[in-house]
Amino acid sequence: MKRIAVIEGDGIGKEVIPQALKALEALDFRFERVDLEVGYARWERTGTAISDEDIETLRSCDCILFGAITTPDDPDYESVVLKIRKGLDLYANVRPIRPIAAISGAVGHKNFDFVIVRENTEGLYSGIEDIGDDRACTTRVVTRKGSERIAQYACKLATARRKHLTIVHKSNVLKSDKLFLDTCRQIAEEEGITYDDRLVDSMAYSLIATPWKYDVVVTTNMFGDILSDMSGALVGSLGLLPSANIGNSHAFFEPVHGSAPDIAGEGYANPIAAILSAKMMLEWCREFKKASLIEEAINQTLCRNIRTPDIGGNSTTTEFGDAVAEYIRDSF
Ligand code: NAI
Ligand code: MG
Repeated sequence: MKRIAVIEGDGIGKEVIPQALKALEALDFRFERVDLEVGYARWERTGTAISDEDIETLRSCDCILFGAITTPDDPDYESVVLKIRKGLDLYANVRPIRPIAAISGAVGHKNFDFVIVRENTEGLYSGIEDIGDDRACTTRVVTRKGSERIAQYACKLATARRKHLTIVHKSNVLKSDKLFLDTCRQIAEEEGITYDDRLVDSMAYSLIATPWKYDVVVTTNMFGDILSDMSGALVGSLGLLPSANIGNSHAFFEPVHGSAPDIAGEGYANPIAAILSAKMMLEWCREFKKASLIEEAINQTLCRNIRTPDIGGNSTTTEFGDAVAEYIRDSF
């Protein structure tokens, strides 16, 4: 039985994760559950958002299901998500971008299916900063080892898909990206994957204009962060995108979105990203039948016109989660 840490976090994390748990329960997916309170609410109460002991607890689990955490405007606050990603060495952030049949995206395209594979432990999010009153400096780290392993992960994924890799970078300006680009090219050649590359700015345009051209997109940490939120517009809402943070021995599953303080507490957050993150977790646990039933349940629920306001409906988070769980129970 898998030991799984559950971190609801802050804001809408507390609303959407319970819906994902309901789906897992309906599937009769049994696991040893370890609940952890980390994040902003705990930081406000105790001054610590996440401790080293929490990281050890997470290390004792197989994987983590996570909602979202609010980041306060305080220079002393340490990012919880970055600490978990680095602490467990979860180097591959995998963000599938696929249309959902019953939902029209903002751009109107339906024929796309790509995955953003974002390097998750270095780049501009390495946490190396020198902040003074008049000069603030953030160090962008690119290593051969970090680039090799993310390229290998992306090529492995491409092998099981359309076998094409697009390397996204800004090496015309950032010399650090030349190492990333050259390493990815070399790995793609070794792995027998066809590849091309694009500068990140023109890639942003191309992903919106012609998303069907892409299969696996590999990029550095911040570019992947930005391009994946942007791709939410193709699918129809930020509330629809799941993600996985994968390492050699652990994994951490979370919606792409944040804690959405503008709608938190209202009960109308879209739980689809969280439920699809649980689906990715089931796939990681090799429970493929259960995973595909989750997807079917979401599609059937949308067809019944149960949907949250961000995708044109007026259902609540709980109504959607209940309908998904009910569909699963009825067909299980
Ligand atoms: P956000 O993703 O929380 O929200 C952006 C916009 O999308 C908001 O208008 C929000 O209402 C909407 N939205 C997001 N998820 C939704 C859902 N499930 N259903 C319906 N609408 C949804 O990003 P924002 O506002 O930039 O950040 C808010 C907080 O979240 C910040 O403190 C940020 O640091 C944190 N954050 C945390 C992340 C994490 O824990 N992994 C990731 C991204 C942001
Ligand atoms: Mg983000």
